[in-house]
Amino acid sequence: MTPAKVQLVQESFKKIVPIAAAAADLFYERLFTIAPEVRSLFPQDLSQQKKKLMQMLATAVANLHQVQNILPAVEALGRRHAGYGVTDKDYEIVREALLWTLEQGLGNDFTPPVKEAWTETYLTVSWVMKNAAATAVVMEAAE
Ligand code: HEM
Repeated sequence: MTPAKVQLVQESFKKIVPIAAAAADLFYERLFTIAPEVRSLFPQDLSQQKKKLMQMLATAVANLHQVQNILPAVEALGRRHAGYGVTDKDYEIVREALLWTLEQGLGNDFTPPVKEAWTETYLTVSWVMKNAAATAVVMEAAE
């Protein structure tokens, strides 16, 4: 990612931080509206889940300029997601819900370049997660 895009994501995320709890509520509401079938993958009580998601996002955003620092953690996250029953297709649904949430939270600040920078961020993180999950499956099959 270019430094300019990293900055767009980091600056816009600063505006989400103060409304993180509301943003997390919105995100899951939107997710389960567009994809009710994924609700059963999550525990009934989402309160811990919401905190963990925002923490992970904050870590990813803070390290965008040095992704190598978070690669092992993101790979491990991807392997755990395969265990939760998350499929490649689900990543597209979550991308849609996340971008929608950012649009609600940022309003006019969600400009086309900001949207593009977030899309690239999500695609990068989810690519690493999916790849790590797929590699884990291949290794299991070979054992
Ligand atoms: C960039 C993409 C994503 C990020 C950063 C992310 C982040 C997280 C984090 C931090 C957790 C807490 C548990 C852990 O660390 O293992 C978690 C759990 C979970 N995520 Fe994600 N996630 C992403 C994509 C997805 C997608 C696409 C789905 C599919 C619907 C999903 C469904 C779940 C489920 C079902 C749990 C486990 C709930 C539980 O049993 O406690 N996540 N995610």
